[in-house]
This record gives sequence, C-alpha cells and structure tokens, in this order.
Amino acid sequence: MEFLPEILEVVKKEITASGNLKDSPLAVLLLSDKYDSLLSEEADRIRREVYSDEVYLRGLIEFTNYCKNDCYYCGLRKSNSNLTRYRLTEEEIISCCKTGYELGLRTFVLQGGEDPYFTDEKICSIIGSIKEQYKDVAVTLSIGEKEKESYLAYYKAGADRYLLREESANPLHYAQLHPKNLNLERRKECIKTLKEIGFQAGGGFMVGTPHQGVEEIIADLNFLYSLSPDMIGIGPFVSNPDTPFAHFKSGSVELTLRLLSILRILFPHALLPATTSLWTLEPSALQRALKGGANVIMPNITPKRVRNNYRLYPGKTNTEKEAAQTVAELVSIISAAGYRAVSSKGDVRRI
Ligand code: 5AD
Repeated sequence: MEFLPEILEVVKKEITASGNLKDSPLAVLLLSDKYDSLLSEEADRIRREVYSDEVYLRGLIEFTNYCKNDCYYCGLRKSNSNLTRYRLTEEEIISCCKTGYELGLRTFVLQGGEDPYFTDEKICSIIGSIKEQYKDVAVTLSIGEKEKESYLAYYKAGADRYLLREESANPLHYAQLHPKNLNLERRKECIKTLKEIGFQAGGGFMVGTPHQGVEEIIADLNFLYSLSPDMIGIGPFVSNPDTPFAHFKSGSVELTLRLLSILRILFPHALLPATTSLWTLEPSALQRALKGGANVIMPNITPKRVRNNYRLYPGKTNTEKEAAQTVAELVSIISAAGYRAVSSKGDVRRI
C-alpha cells in the first residue's frame, strides 16, 4: 500500500470486481488522507495529458425550480413550501445565453426541476432557438428522467449533452434518499439510453449523503466504470433545513477532492466539473479541485432576480453577482491555479 501506481492498478481491477469491498485497498484509499497529494499530482498529470491546461466554462441557466419529485435531500422537492417558485420564459433564457455568449461562454446548461409545464415541445423550441442563434455553442440539458422519445426529440432538436446523476448506485441507499415512486433501475436505464442516443452523457453522485459509507461510494465508482461516462458530476451533500435531511451534516470537502482525483485517474477523458456545492462549502476548494483533476466550471448566469430561489441547498455563493463579474472572477481563479479558461464548446475527448 505504499506505492501509488501499484495501488491504482489494484483499484482499477477492484472497481470491476464484486464482493465485499469494505476492507479493500480502494476503501483504504478513500478513507485515508495519506495519499492525497500523490493522488492529486497523478490526476493533474493525466488531465494535462488529455486536456492540456484547458478549463471549460459552462453557463448554467436554472430555468425552473418547480419539481414534481420529493427527493429527501433537495430543496426543490415539491413538499418544500418555503420556496418561491419561478419559471423563466424562452425569451429570458435566450437573453441569458446572449449575455453568456458575449462573455465567451460556448456551452449553456439548462437545468431545472422535473417540471411538467416544460413539455417536450417547449424544451425543443428553446434548444432550437439557442442553436439557431449561436452556431458554435453546445447545449447541455439537466432536467431529469424522461421517456426515450423525449430524449430523442431533444437530441434531434440539437441538444449535445445530458447530465443525469444516478445519485446512488446502491439500490438500498438509493431508496434511503428517494421516495418510493423513484427507483434506481429506471434512473440507470435513463442514463444508458442517453448514451445510446448519442448524447455526451454523464452520471454522478453527492458525497456524504445520509447513510452513505465507503461501500456505497464504491458502488457508484463501479457503476460509472461500467457506464464509461463522458461527464461525471460529484459534489458534497449540503444539508438543507427545508428538507427531511435537515438534521444530517453536510458531506466532506476533503473526501470530495480525493474522489475527484480518483475519478480523473479512473476516467482520463471525462469532463469533470468542480461543482457549485463544493465551492459553496469551501471557496478555496475550487482551486484545489482544478489542481486535482477537475476541468470544468459552471458559472451561474441565471437572472439575479430568481437566482436565490433555485435553492437545492442553502448558502449558494454568487447569488448577488452579475454574470460578468462571476465569469471574470472564475477566469482569474483558473489562471491563478495555473490553467487557462478557454472559450470553446469543450467537447469530451473520447479515447
Ligand atoms: N446538496 C448537494 N447537492 C444537491 N443536489 C440536490 N440537492 C443537493 C444538496 N442538498 C444535487 C443532486 C442533483 C444536482 C442537480 O444537485 O445531485 O443531481
């Protein structure tokens, strides 16, 4: 267990093995801080080999905070009455894109709760308008579980990427995080379908959700390994007082950073964002995430008027800032960390 490359070989084999992994080298690696600097250096070496020093910015547009689901961890859950609900119009969304485009952003991420108001027709119309006005941008969707026909329609309308975190690849743990009407099998099916259709697709999970232990994390690594995702989103769970998980503590920033490095080593080609929840809990973690394998950041370009209502969890930073200021600050953080914010679509570099 002393020499990192050897450990990582073991880890790569283990990830596809089954059985009890609680005492495995991978578990030891996850639970110890002993290898953190080695992991981070190795992750950086690999990311530079594949993506050089480029960091991609994605303009995040949180276009609806209505949600028909009731996930126990999320502030957008339908039972949360402490939230002012909003929807952006197509015009407002396009206006966010205009601002973002002028700031150099070349990917727009449309993220929202599962809101039936936004029919496939409306979503396709929004995608179509963005792609028609801006020929050199990518559109990423993050709008949850849909039928295959809907995913196909979005793809045909021009959407390039789709983010759908599995949240937990362990069925028991999944059931501890979600109400009974949601199930892991369907979620995994959706992610696989998205890949088959041709989206750059990705999964991911929160670090430190209630009842998550090292075995649950290994289940996620295992699932992701079999999926071979283009993108992986992980961030610490942030305890939200407006949810049934109010009394649980937030996840660990250190473990999230360690996992980001492990993910970069296991998935050299993945687009790996330093997510908002990470820098919400610890602003300085953004630089550390970049130095340890992350290559994507998602500045929030949602109109200020509604931004504070997209409250997955409390304490979200930048709710008072104009998009221009957010982007400028991120660009300088990126260069201070030794990387380059580039104005490109930033597609995945597949093997
Ligand atoms: N803390 C951290 N992340 C959260 N998400 C939802 N609620 C929380 C929370 N309380 C994450 C989920 C979802 C993504 C959009 O935000 O993983 O997929």
